[in-house]
Amino acid sequence: MNTTANSALQTADRQTPAILITGATGSIGTELTKTLSERGIRFRAMVRSPKDAQTVAQLAGADVVLGDFNDPVTIAHALRGIERAFLLTNSSDQAENQQLNFVAEAQRAGLKQIVKLSQFAAAPDSPVRFLRYHAVVEQAIRESGMDFTFLRPNLFMQGLLGFRSSIIEQGKFFAAVGDARISLVDVRDIAAVGAEVLVEPGHVGKIYTLTGPQALTHVEIADELSIALGRRITFVDVPPAAMRNALAGVGFPDWQADGLIEDYAHYSRNEASSVEPGVEAATGKMPRSFTDFARDYAPAFN
Ligand SMILES: NC(=O)c1ccc[n+]([C@@H]2O[C@H](COP(=O)([O-])OP(=O)(O)OC[C@H]3O[C@@H](n4cnc5c(N)ncnc54)[C@H](OP(=O)(O)O)[C@@H]3O)[C@@H](O)[C@H]2O)c1
Repeated sequence: MNTTANSALQTADRQTPAILITGATGSIGTELTKTLSERGIRFRAMVRSPKDAQTVAQLAGADVVLGDFNDPVTIAHALRGIERAFLLTNSSDQAENQQLNFVAEAQRAGLKQIVKLSQFAAAPDSPVRFLRYHAVVEQAIRESGMDFTFLRPNLFMQGLLGFRSSIIEQGKFFAAVGDARISLVDVRDIAAVGAEVLVEPGHVGKIYTLTGPQALTHVEIADELSIALGRRITFVDVPPAAMRNALAGVGFPDWQADGLIEDYAHYSRNEASSVEPGVEAATGKMPRSFTDFARDYAPAFN
């Protein structure tokens, strides 16, 4: 660990910020910690390895603490003196238990407010495993008696970065989604909502469904990317079994690969096509369009 990260870890108990960010090194967490820092808000970031502490520790206002969702003792340590926390894990077969561990420790620590990153259409009876585990955690938070705010984003625009190599090498990307429309959302807007609800009053008990300003088909996404990149990008619809094989081929564990197939079946049924006002309701600003995303991220696809 570098000196900055080290000293940040050492100061964690001396100057306690009010806000804890988990998942701080991930897609949303990276944007959220940057946004808080730019707004001059002090926060503590929970990271699980010292090498991950380095980037976030360099942000103004950041305190860094080591913590692992699988180790309740470290969660309790990370929560010490904290009033509000942002809860995010990646979606794995451990996610439900990890998040429930966090909720139990937060309740024990007397946390005032928990902001949970959930998902569009989270429901206990969903055929999509991700949507079921998010609903279980939401319910546990409600039952804990802590103040809560739930953020339920739709498919991330930045998910396209997962298709980066086929877009660069073949000018194509593949998914089992047909011609369904999806109101996908920019991660930067999810982070802006996260910062707002952690910092400003008036968001307790709210559930924000976060979408972009339009619902697009994957062919329309390819057309927008083509314009931004100045070359033809084609979307290729594939059967779910082919997508499942491709996910396994690039190393996705079975639970996650099967979950993504369920997720894409849900998109295919046009169940994620409604445009919702959550971003504007929470931040007062319109969400970014896919055109904005394609322009800003074009260098990543070249
Ligand atoms: N992708 C989508 O389109 C989409 C749409 C709606 C909702 N969501 C939800 O968004 C969430 C994922 O957000 P994201 O993309 O920002 O996540 P991400 O980029 O995968 O980052 C996950 C974060 O969790 C941390 N983490 C993982 N395991 C940990 C552990 N055992 N202890 C402590 N930290 C741990 C990771 O730390 P390391 O750096 O150490 O790994 C990382 O900071 C999921 O809940 C998913 O259901 C996703």
